Amino acid sequence: AVSATPPFGDRELVLVSNREPYVHERDDDGISVARPAGGLTSALDPMMASTGGTWVAWGSGDGDEEMSDENGCVRVPPESPSYELKRVALSEEQVTNYYYGYSNQVLWPLCHSDIAKMTPKPEFWRHYREANERFADAIRERVDPSEAVVWFQDYHFALAPRLIRESAPDAFCMQFWHIPWPSWDVFRSCPEHDELLDGLLANDLLGFHTDRYCRNFLDCASKALGADVNRETGVIRYDGRTVRVESFPLGIDAVERRRLAGSAEADEAWESLRDAYPLGAERLALGVDRLDYTKGIEQRLTALERLWEERPEWRGRVTYVQKASESRSRINDYQRVQATVTGEIERINERFGTDAWRPIVYIDDRLSTAELAALYREADVGLVSSLRDGMNLVAKEFVASQVDDPGVLVLSELVGAHEELGEAAMTVHPNDAEAFTDGIERALTMDRPERSNRMTQLQAEVEENDIEAWKNDVLRHAGEVLNRKRRADRD
Ligand code: G6P
Repeated sequence: AVSATPPFGDRELVLVSNREPYVHERDDDGISVARPAGGLTSALDPMMASTGGTWVAWGSGDGDEEMSDENGCVRVPPESPSYELKRVALSEEQVTNYYYGYSNQVLWPLCHSDIAKMTPKPEFWRHYREANERFADAIRERVDPSEAVVWFQDYHFALAPRLIRESAPDAFCMQFWHIPWPSWDVFRSCPEHDELLDGLLANDLLGFHTDRYCRNFLDCASKALGADVNRETGVIRYDGRTVRVESFPLGIDAVERRRLAGSAEADEAWESLRDAYPLGAERLALGVDRLDYTKGIEQRLTALERLWEERPEWRGRVTYVQKASESRSRINDYQRVQATVTGEIERINERFGTDAWRPIVYIDDRLSTAELAALYREADVGLVSSLRDGMNLVAKEFVASQVDDPGVLVLSELVGAHEELGEAAMTVHPNDAEAFTDGIERALTMDRPERSNRMTQLQAEVEENDIEAWKNDVLRHAGEVLNRKRRADRD
């Protein structure tokens, strides 16, 4: 086992997220381990490996229970165990209403300011509350919250901090919200706005990716609950307590991504990808997404189609690879994105494809980390076109993997990562089809000195503000808030 460094001395770190970092699935050969898609778990797993502690999450795989001990725990990462993963079992009804329902059909569209997609139902809210209680119980089974640091992740747990606080007033709770926080004018569309804000304000420290999301949150707390908000310091006084709101832009394990991209495994993976898919065009553009309506995949396809339509010299010369991960497929809006994306790709391929060239290569198979690294490395253009995105770590992964001939990042101005990467990336507005197409063409024709120059800046940014820096920043702030609390208790 690897030794980890506990960040809070004798207070154990308990991280809580809905999605687990490792899923155990049963198959013909027994049980295999998979890593789920999505930025949250891939970013936090290396962090937990270095701090140790317990990660509490929904046990979503059919082999999870079998792999866990009598307390529902298993030690991970599988290759070099250094922390405990405690699985919470959820019933089918809870999964339907808490996960697919309130989390992903109310809070997800709400926070991405897509209020027409919200479908609130009383049973969604009831199960969301119950699931938050269920997770609060699981935390208490593991630790006494008064002697721990409980760190909630994301929008699945807006109520749990309040539940922990009620049973353990001395608990130290913090939360990182991985998706955007919308303006009050949008947030008020949610009928439960007060309860959600009240739950989150039971934290001691609350983090968002960007200052913009922090400002939106402060505004909501003040307008909905009349909380006393200091916009300069990010400190909120509410219900006799103090909550600190701060921005912490999430990063990736850039060193590991770079190592992987330059590895012999990636070379081999690239050879096998080339055998499996028609990737022989002169240029490669790449998009890597969960199939989600926030990612702007349709807008990207429109821009690409315009490129081949209006500038026929690019036909046969550039292939776009869409790596797609199926996501939240029980929800209609997600089924619709899947159908539209695959339908559009088929249509575009039929329209322009030849025997020698497939315009769009769609990959929905699960790829190994080496295969993904190879794709990132070989891509000349990385396309990120979300209509709203808390951060978007794909942009950072693409950048960190550009180890030889530097490519160009084409980046939507509507994602959190744009705050850090906007200056050196090729900025586009995903809804401005003409400008988007121009941006792609500029990226394809950019000379090497300019590409190098931009990529050097991007890589410096991504490497400096990596997952390690993020962790240190969050833990330093948490330590400060915790010490202030201890001092206040003593006085
Ligand atoms: C986003 C969310 C995460 C979530 C991930 C994958 O990154 O912020 O909380 O885990 O998407 O979505 P899923 O619903 O599969 O967990």
